[in-house]
Amino acid sequence: MPRVIAITSEKGGVGKSTLAVHLAGAFHERGLHALLIDEDGRVGSSLRWAERAKERGGLGFPVLTPDDIKPKKLGNLDVLLIDTEGRPKRRELRQLAERADVILVPSGPSALELDATRELLDYLDDETNAARKLRVVLTRVPPVGRAGEEAREDLRDGGATVCNTLVRHYAAYQKAAEAGALARDIADTKAATAWEDVMSLSRELV
Ligand SMILES: Nc1ncnc2c1ncn2[C@@H]1O[C@H](COP(=O)(O)OP(=O)(O)O)[C@@H](O)[C@H]1O
Ligand SMILES: [Mg+2]
Repeated sequence: MPRVIAITSEKGGVGKSTLAVHLAGAFHERGLHALLIDEDGRVGSSLRWAERAKERGGLGFPVLTPDDIKPKKLGNLDVLLIDTEGRPKRRELRQLAERADVILVPSGPSALELDATRELLDYLDDETNAARKLRVVLTRVPPVGRAGEEAREDLRDGGATVCNTLVRHYAAYQKAAEAGALARDIADTKAATAWEDVMSLSRELV
């Protein structure tokens, strides 16, 4: 069976879909069979991203809704990524916690975002047996300064497992979303740097 990575967060707009699409792209580049399931479907979701990508030849990996999934096909996969909607209901989180091997919780490095992330971690810790599956990844980290490093230390001091990779804030990700592409393929001076963050994160996960 594939390694199942669910991406969820307490709030929307944190960077879940951006990470989901880019991680799937990184696994694909590494020669792994990746599938992305989008549980959201609204504007800004992975599904819409993949639709925009069709005009330019696609993203290279499938993006499907939960209804499209044929269990037989999952056997051939290396990685199954799940992009959840913002603010999933408690019951949905419980189901997610059971299904996933890794629950990836993206968080911005600001104090308020860290608070929201800690709340979600506490909930998952109390209500599920998922504590060992939880991994925070700091994203939209200012490329200048130490906010990302400090947030990582803070969360670790509180007992959280935090990915080493800091996914930095680059316009290349926004451009990629608009174009239906990956940051790697965008004409932007920081495109390659953004892609390095994603590749590095992918290696921490699989
Ligand atoms: N690392 C990043 N650098 C710059 N912008 C980002 C980054 N990650 C996400 N964004 C932007 O933040 C917004 C929300 O991201 P999105 O992935 O749609 O969040 P979510 O799926 O959690 O709602 C989008 O405009 C996206 O382009
Ligand atoms: Mg989203």
